[in-house]
Formats: sequence, C-alpha cells, structure tokens
Amino acid sequence: MANPTQGRNIQTDSTKDRVYLDHNATTPLHPEVRSRLLEWADDWGNPSSIHQEGRGPKARMREARDSIAKILGAHPLELIFTAGGSESNNLVLKSIQTFANEPKRHILLSSLEHPSLKRAAEAMARAGFDVELIRAHRSGVIDLEDLEAKLRPGQTALVSVMLANNETGVIQPLSEIVRMAKAAGARVHTDAVQALGKVPVNVRDLGVDYASFAGHKFYALKGAGVLYVAKGAPLEPLIYGGGQERHRRGGTENVLAIASLGYMASKAGEITERAAEMARLRDRFEAEVLSSIADVSINGAGEKRLPSTSSLLIPGTDGETMLMALDMEGFAVSTGAACSSGSPEPSPVLLAMGLTRAEAQCSLRVGVGWGTTDSDIDRFVLTLKKVVDRLRGLKGYKVGQLKRPEESSCLT
Ligand SMILES: Cc1ncc(COP(=O)(O)O)c(C=O)c1O
Repeated sequence: MANPTQGRNIQTDSTKDRVYLDHNATTPLHPEVRSRLLEWADDWGNPSSIHQEGRGPKARMREARDSIAKILGAHPLELIFTAGGSESNNLVLKSIQTFANEPKRHILLSSLEHPSLKRAAEAMARAGFDVELIRAHRSGVIDLEDLEAKLRPGQTALVSVMLANNETGVIQPLSEIVRMAKAAGARVHTDAVQALGKVPVNVRDLGVDYASFAGHKFYALKGAGVLYVAKGAPLEPLIYGGGQERHRRGGTENVLAIASLGYMASKAGEITERAAEMARLRDRFEAEVLSSIADVSINGAGEKRLPSTSSLLIPGTDGETMLMALDMEGFAVSTGAACSSGSPEPSPVLLAMGLTRAEAQCSLRVGVGWGTTDSDIDRFVLTLKKVVDRLRGLKGYKVGQLKRPEESSCLT
C-alpha cells in the first residue's frame, strides 16, 4: 500500500538526519503548529482581562476548548487546562482527599500506571487512604478478576486505570472496568495521555468521570494538558488562584501551548489518516524484526494496542546498551518511560506484567509517529540487527539459549 503521508514528514530540520522512534516520550511539533506560533503569541494579553488585549487570548482559549471538547465528546466546560499529564493525574488523585467521605477511603489503581499517578497515590496513602494496586496479566492487560475482588462496594472512592500504556501500547478494557467500578459506587479516572491522537477517545462513551491528556504527546507544545471532569464529578484545585478555569485551576493560562493543543484537536481527519499509516508501519516493523532477529518477542502482542508502539524483548542484549548504540547510529528509541531513563532499574510496567528483571532489562520501546517513513523502518531494522548481533556476540549468546529467561540475566 502506498504511504499516503509520505513527503509530509513532520520532523524538524534539526532532526532530519536522525530517525526519531520515541514518540511515546514526546512528539515533534506539527509544522502547521510551528508556523502559527508567532501569530498566536501576538495574542499576549491576559485572557482574564476584560479589555481589548484580553479578548484575543480569551478567544484563542475558547476556540481551543471547543475543539478539544469536540474531539473528546465532552462539553467545553467539562475541561480544565493544566500544564500536562502529570498535573492532570495529580489533580484527580489529590482531590480524593476532599471529596471522599468516610467510609470511602479506598483507592484502586492499576499496577501499570504512570509514576505521576503512583506517586500521588503514595501521598494519599500517607494521608491515611487505603491504596491498592490491580494486578496485570503477562499480556499487559489488567486482571479484571483482581479488580472485582479488590473493589469494596460503598468504600472504594476511585478506580484509576490508564486507557493505553506508555510502554507496551496495550489498551485496557475500560468499558468493562467502568461498569464494574460504577456497580461498586466508585468514580473512575483514566490516564489517556498516550491514547490521544492515536485512537479515538470519547469520554462520554467510555463513561469515565475523569480523563487526563497532554499536548506534547500530540504534536503540540509542551506545557498544556487537559483534565476532563464529567459534569457533577467533584474536584478540588491543586493550585488556588484568581478564579481561572472556573476556580478549578488557578494561574494565568499558557495560552500559546493551549492554542497549539486546540489546533491539533481540530485535525480529526488527519488523525484518522495518520493512525492508519502508523499501524501499517508498526506492523511492518514488527514483522521485519521478528523475521530478521532470532528469539525476539513483543510484549503485549495479540492484545489491542496503540497503532504506534512496539515493546520488544530481545534476549542476549541489554536495553541501555542498545539504546546508546542506536543513538550513536542516529536512532532515538527508549528502554521505557522517558521519566525513568537514566535509571538502571528495569521498567516497573514490565515487572508488573510479570516479566523478570532480566527480561525487563533487555526490552526496548519503539514508537513510530506521524513523521516516520518506510525508509526509517528499513534503516532502523538493519541497524538494530547489527547492534543486537554485536551485543550477542560479545556475550556469547546462542540463539534459543534463553528458553527459561527467568533463570538467567539477559546478558549472560
Ligand atoms: C501514560 C502517561 N501519563 C502521564 C504522563 C505524564 O505526562 P506529562 O509529561 O505531560 O506530565 C506520561 C508521559 O510520559 C504518560 O506516558
């Protein structure tokens, strides 16, 4: 099939000699966003001002809110602009403190969540809440039986499960989760940061009370995120201020970043087209890797996944070493969440799925994006094979050696 987006590579000039395959960490700016930044920046007034200088930015914010509400199936007033995914996640978790009446002091979140939720939940635990994690299957899907067993009707205040995982791309059965949580009287939050722009996200259809989003995973500027709060769902601000966002998030808004996110949300047609193209490239990439490099498997294979993400388990290697070798060859990939890179610890997500430390340590995350081309994939597969062969040679790895990887390190 011809690539309908070929020739519309959205990477910036400074990155053209590089192949960026880490779109789960962040995305480059869409060129149409980049070309409009100065125009938007000219609306420099304070959107809360009622004089003329305030009207332009206020209109930009309204336009952005309307576009985002439309793409999410929400009412514009159900959206709160934040600084990004982490703030949106913290805002929900920390709100629990003020709205969960006794005896609703129980919080359930999946073991696959982003640190911004896990750390916020730990803070809630220190504040006296009872926090439990929902187990995940090896497939990367959460264990619904565990959820059922852990739900406490009338006591569970919140269930939080991400829509799509940042490391494996596995999509969670959210409708089922919402049905179970609601039956127990709990509110439901989903972290949809990775899903936006890759799969359709309709908050009303999902039936959640809260959902988090971030612009920088969606070809917009960093510094703008959204929290969807369903009408009637309680919320307490993290930041108190001058009444912005209907008193739910104080502080003068990041109009420029919000405008960029709103602009991206208005591109529904391109989103659908790009998602299909990413799926084609991702499938081709996985088929080529599996056929050209022995003993590789894909974490979450067979499950519903984002069209963009591959989590590879490559025995006989080491994720950090591969990442650095590939970087020197001109390719940007990741061993896991960007926020934990630099840490020698294996990915908590992969460990939560039941991978051994050794397996998690030889995993690599590859995320295609709107700028990825067939030629990027061809070059990457060739280089990856070269790097893997070299590493395996150094370690004396024999193909088929790791029949039981749990018994040895991926490097030995
Ligand atoms: C699933 C998920 N949630 C939340 C975040 C945090 O978003 P932000 O970097 O905008 O704070 C990320 C970023 O990696 C993510 O992947």
